[in-house]
Amino acid sequence: MRYASITNRLSGKGSRAWHVHDLAAARREAGEDVIALTIGDPDFETPSAIIEAMVASARAGRTHYSPSTGYPELREAIAARVSPYAGRAIASDEVAFFPGAQAALYAVCTVLLEAGDEVIVPEPAYATYEGVFGATGATEVRVPLRPERGFHLDVDDVRRAITVRTRAVVINTPQNPTGAAFGAATLAALGELCAEHDLWLVSDEVYAELVFGKAHASALAISGAEGRVCAISSLSKSHAMTGFRHGWAVGPTELIQHLDNLLSSMLFGSPAFIQDAGVAALRHADDVTTHMRDAYEQRARVVVDALRDARGITVRMPEGGMFVLADVRESGLDDLEWALGLLAAEGVGVLPTGSFGTSGEGHVRIGLAADTATLSEACRRIARYAETTIS
Ligand SMILES: Cc1ncc(COP(=O)(O)O)c(C=O)c1O
Repeated sequence: MRYASITNRLSGKGSRAWHVHDLAAARREAGEDVIALTIGDPDFETPSAIIEAMVASARAGRTHYSPSTGYPELREAIAARVSPYAGRAIASDEVAFFPGAQAALYAVCTVLLEAGDEVIVPEPAYATYEGVFGATGATEVRVPLRPERGFHLDVDDVRRAITVRTRAVVINTPQNPTGAAFGAATLAALGELCAEHDLWLVSDEVYAELVFGKAHASALAISGAEGRVCAISSLSKSHAMTGFRHGWAVGPTELIQHLDNLLSSMLFGSPAFIQDAGVAALRHADDVTTHMRDAYEQRARVVVDALRDARGITVRMPEGGMFVLADVRESGLDDLEWALGLLAAEGVGVLPTGSFGTSGEGHVRIGLAADTATLSEACRRIARYAETTIS
């Protein structure tokens, strides 16, 4: 049978990265001594108060259709959450609820981009982006996040990539996989550039609550860019709620109206009991986030300290998020080859990031969703293997 051309654009090179994850998971399931540090799913339990809120909501009969963009109470709670980042009061009609940041990104790109358009995205970029942009028919134009700049964005690279077809710039900060958190000055310069060329700026900020030792700089705070900025986030990482599928998009009300139409056509509203759990998380569970942020920072330090003197691998402390990016270019091996070798020799699964973009080649992403003892053991094995790759 015939399928629409979108099916050819939905799967990208990202699948290459998950190969190591699938192998590691299979070996672990078979009972082998494998440490899988491949994914970004928090190892913390979802806080019980949030589960209780969800159960109470379902028991109270909140199991029927709901408004497409979310209940007013939830949209207000999200608006209250992002207002401090924006440095202004965000109104609830600037918010749309989505089942996860991924769905929000897909929907936002669907209403902003189409065939013939170009979208600029810094790379290495989160592996699912390729499929999202591909679905719209727009052409993805990548600009490098260079290792020698600490993977920070050079706004001049974006400037050089702009053409008459450019419609949007999509960034992710704190960034997956590099751990770079863009500063307010970079964002302001990007905002100015977008205004100059009448572009949208979409900012994926799912790791906003996991910035280490400094405040998160949000694209929502760019002065004068309110009409062209859309920020996306979720409770997946901040509250260990990946399975709840709880996220949002914040942007101008006209954008939210278009998203409302899309949501009505596609989802017809999200489960009320999931939304209620989110309200509980946003209002009462910030201590959990603080605890997790501290834990991820401590874990990142454990990894960086353990691998600091290792030969054949160079690590840098991330500024936020759930990963440490490691440079293994000294080995001369392709990152996939390196990761497969590590899994075979030492039973440690890490994600090769070449498929996240050219600037991610020769790097592997070490996930922090494991306790410090496990990470220490993984690092001992990684150091041992890295040494063999250069001798
Ligand atoms: C950069 C980035 N964006 C979006 C997502 C998806 O988040 P959610 O679970 O909220 O859909 C992830 C998940 O790992 C991510 O790393």
